[in-house]
Amino acid sequence: MKRMMVAGNWKMHNGADQTRKLIEQIIHVAPQSISNSTKAKLVDVVICPPFTSLAVAAELLSDTTIALGAQNCHHANQGAYTGEVSAAMLSEIGCTYVIVGHSERRRDANETDNLIALKAVAACAEGLTPILCIGENLQQREQGKTSDVVSEQVKQFALSAGAECLRSCVIAYEPIWAIGTGIAATPEQAQEVHTLIRTLCEDHFDVNPMILYGGSVTDNNASTFFLQPDIDGALVGGASLNATTFVTIVNAALQSP
Ligand code: PGA
Repeated sequence: MKRMMVAGNWKMHNGADQTRKLIEQIIHVAPQSISNSTKAKLVDVVICPPFTSLAVAAELLSDTTIALGAQNCHHANQGAYTGEVSAAMLSEIGCTYVIVGHSERRRDANETDNLIALKAVAACAEGLTPILCIGENLQQREQGKTSDVVSEQVKQFALSAGAECLRSCVIAYEPIWAIGTGIAATPEQAQEVHTLIRTLCEDHFDVNPMILYGGSVTDNNASTFFLQPDIDGALVGGASLNATTFVTIVNAALQSP
């Protein structure tokens, strides 16, 4: 079985109290599967709560094999950047992953490929693994531009951040039209784009990344994605907010071929 990853992106859900409850539930529902998975190093499980919940999450996860991630970081190490949080601060609090370039940040905070690359470089410098999100919007898919858009995002990233940084990244292919809509890509659609990403990374940058699919992954459809040869796991939004569904997705990854 290949190595897999299931990462929960909680977005702006769960303050400290709710984080404590949800993590306790996850640990309670899944002691077996989570410890088995990571003991065997076959499924990496990551939880990405909001910034203000990282401390409590770090404390609760410290004696588990579940890793902690943040949802964003600034590209500078420190300085006059009001409202920002650096990769060094995330590392200090116990994060080992950070999501960069999520489409909601590209949309709401005008994040460009270049800025996202700078964030990933800062994350790598602190020993964090960036989870780099890419993906096309509905109009781009309908116009047959998916390959061009995704290829361009990867190329721009790699040219700015460098192949070494790309090598440290987990890539999450998240078609924007599938995020939070309940309309997931089909496993075949996702596989097609994952193959494209892998081939591009191998041919141009000599990198063979772990590639997650994200966008309306649920406990019902996760296993169909995990059957695909180039899908190495999932970045899960809504379905990661419930302990049972999240753990079911982890178990589906464990049972993948
Ligand atoms: P979703 O979100 O699973 O709720 O569609 C995925 C994501 O935005 O990472």
